[in-house]
Amino acid sequence: MAGTLRDVLEDLRQAGELIEIKKPVDIRHIAALVDQAKKALLFRNVIGYALPVLSGLTNSRERIALAMGCRFDETEARLRRGLDRPIEPVTVTGGPAREVVLTGDAVDLFALPIPLFSLLDGGPMITAGVTLARDPEHGLNAGVYRFQVKERNLTGIDVVTPNNLRKFAERALAAGRPLPISINIGTHPAELIAATYKAPIGVSEMAIAGGFAGAPVRFTACETIDVPCLADAEIVLEAEILPTGWTKPEGRFGEFTRLMGGLHWNPWVRVKAVAMRRDAIYYALHMPWENIWLSAPIYEAALRRVLREAGVQVAAINVTPGGCCHWHAVVAIQKHPGDGKNAILAALSVADMKHVVVVDDDIDVFDGTEVEWAIATRVQADRDVVIVSDARSKPLDPSLPVVSGRIPTTAKCGVDATIPEDVPRERYERITYAYADRVRLADVLGDGDGATAGEPAAVDLAALAARIRAALAETPLYFAQIAERFAAEGFASVTRTLGSLHAAGALSQDAVGRHCLAGSPFAATPPATKA
Ligand SMILES: Cc1cc2nc3c(=O)[nH]c(=O)nc-3n(C[C@H](O)[C@H](O)[C@H](O)COP(=O)(O)O)c2cc1C
Repeated sequence: MAGTLRDVLEDLRQAGELIEIKKPVDIRHIAALVDQAKKALLFRNVIGYALPVLSGLTNSRERIALAMGCRFDETEARLRRGLDRPIEPVTVTGGPAREVVLTGDAVDLFALPIPLFSLLDGGPMITAGVTLARDPEHGLNAGVYRFQVKERNLTGIDVVTPNNLRKFAERALAAGRPLPISINIGTHPAELIAATYKAPIGVSEMAIAGGFAGAPVRFTACETIDVPCLADAEIVLEAEILPTGWTKPEGRFGEFTRLMGGLHWNPWVRVKAVAMRRDAIYYALHMPWENIWLSAPIYEAALRRVLREAGVQVAAINVTPGGCCHWHAVVAIQKHPGDGKNAILAALSVADMKHVVVVDDDIDVFDGTEVEWAIATRVQADRDVVIVSDARSKPLDPSLPVVSGRIPTTAKCGVDATIPEDVPRERYERITYAYADRVRLADVLGDGDGATAGEPAAVDLAALAARIRAALAETPLYFAQIAERFAAEGFASVTRTLGSLHAAGALSQDAVGRHCLAGSPFAATPPATKA
């Protein structure tokens, strides 16, 4: 079976990435506390509620990796494995999520510790619900959507964007029937990531989750609806999207953009049963950062796919949190001539990808200073910036123009920050500190003796000059090489001797800056100057 949230909690605990809080905590404070934490938080004692609250599970690169049981740069490969080799879910009888089942009047969402996130949210919001729905023609679909709690058995569902669930709900509305859904809270993050993946209609995201985790997701039957739920979830809400249409005001919602969305018009959802583990934990997926981070492997997978199709050799990709893990990517490539531009064209074809920077593989895509340095030193804007107008937009982009009657289009931009083909490679020789490969600050700061040899007492400078001359007659040498070759004589003696050779007019330099003897064939000649 695929992993469960409990397995992830144990892994986080082992890695020191989970803080358990036993002190009583006010539910109203949870979102702000998670925002201040550098680790996931498990609130054992939420005042007024029986269930503990887990939050901040995946809001960092490290914790996403931990949750997936692999390095972060392997999560995309795992997701790709899920896409290429999906494993169909298995159906079991019962399961931990069915240990307690409450129906009818016993359904009470207000008994669950569902927190409020931001100041302007419309109310407590269920954020971690892996939602399964069945359409008579298209089969089973999974996605993650927010549900604002309204009554003890009524919520809204935020399906304003044109996704698959919206299509299912529109079809049910047209037929005048409710759409049954199971809302699975507290699942393994593989199931959350797969559900967030925009699979084409009819493709099973839970089979992708199985391939992703390397073992099938376990389905089990619900009691009040003909849709399965996840047998290993912490809590399951059996519900129906009512055929109210998009008529009920809801929100506002704190979005993955880190901004407040406006008021939405959404359908209502009737909760018919609450099923849960006997010792269930409520997972309050923290908005917006957990939402943001969950998207990173998905966009990286999409980028790798299109870049592979374009024949571009990718060294590394950073789907950056600054771009909300949706809009921005830095792509390092092993470049063949023209690949910088091809990589831009391919990467910008990914839906939502708005700004892309392509760099050579000597640049660390995870180091913002390195990337900016590549832009500063490798880009000519009139040659290396590609702008495409009127592409498909992500409607939540607040910078889009307001156009009435249609969805606005967006501009996309790529920056080719790879070394240009027509510029000599020598211009990109990096500064390396002399002796960087040998000296360690720790040795100097530690208890050791420091340098092993001091400056020699007396050096015959005339003899040293003759030996340096002989060396330079053979081959030009950089200053550091001369200092190293005559290290026994000490640095001060070498610099003094080179000084005297210089004063005597005996020294020159070759074309790459090495010292040589004046008048030797190695010596560079000055560039011709205009009269
Ligand atoms: C934490 C989280 C919350 C989300 N909330 C919503 C939401 O409220 N409404 C929505 O349309 N999409 C939301 N999404 C994005 C959808 O899950 C995603 O677009 C998914 O691919 C939709 O699946 P579908 O096309 O199969 O319906 C959310 C994603 C995450 C990770």
